[in-house]
Amino acid sequence: RNSRLVLGLPTGRTPVAFYHELAARVESGEADLSQATTFNLDEFVGIPAGHPGRFRSSITAHLFRRVNLAAERIHFLDGAAADTDAECARYERAIAAAGGIDILILGLGTNGHIGFNEPAPALPARTHRVTLEPDTRAGNAELFGGDPAAVPPEALSMGIATILQARQVILVATGQAKATVVERLVRGPVTPELPGSFLQVHPDVEIMLDTAAAAGLARS
Ligand code: GLP
Repeated sequence: RNSRLVLGLPTGRTPVAFYHELAARVESGEADLSQATTFNLDEFVGIPAGHPGRFRSSITAHLFRRVNLAAERIHFLDGAAADTDAECARYERAIAAAGGIDILILGLGTNGHIGFNEPAPALPARTHRVTLEPDTRAGNAELFGGDPAAVPPEALSMGIATILQARQVILVATGQAKATVVERLVRGPVTPELPGSFLQVHPDVEIMLDTAAAAGLARS
């Protein structure tokens, strides 16, 4: 309905089925992304162009190579940038220049991270460089031949304020491993120790769960 939509997009396993469905609808002519803009949420630091572990590589394989987005309107954080602070600042400017994000789709880490905003006593508001937790590296090992030690120790990520400024947020979580963190995100306090809990203060959030991920909410 809005041909000039600005989308924020996650990687990980959760959105893959959605990307395939969206690509199928573009291929059948039901959806048109030719005027849309996208901003990826996050990226590992220091892996070179063409490496299959880059989030850019996986979302390109699942979505971008199949849809009619204009290349100049597909935005990525460059984790191989020499100056990552400048890269993060450039990304914030690019989001602002596009008019802000209309719909931001999020996955959820089992530790409560959104993007790569890891649990911490305090969270940087804006796009920033972050050190990843061992759990998070293990969770992404599949992209690096199954070896958590091969997963880069750092990443760039949109910040919590960048995320909360999206006009609409859709969080998607599937599987039993997310059930406890989903319950805490929805019912617990807003805390930087569970970054996804900040979504409680956003005025337009939809949370989409399968039965397994919703088990904690169903219990109480
Ligand atoms: C990754 C990414 C997130 C993603 C999350 C969940 O580490 N940084 O953007 O949403 O963890 O991943 P998955 O969907 O594979 O469970």
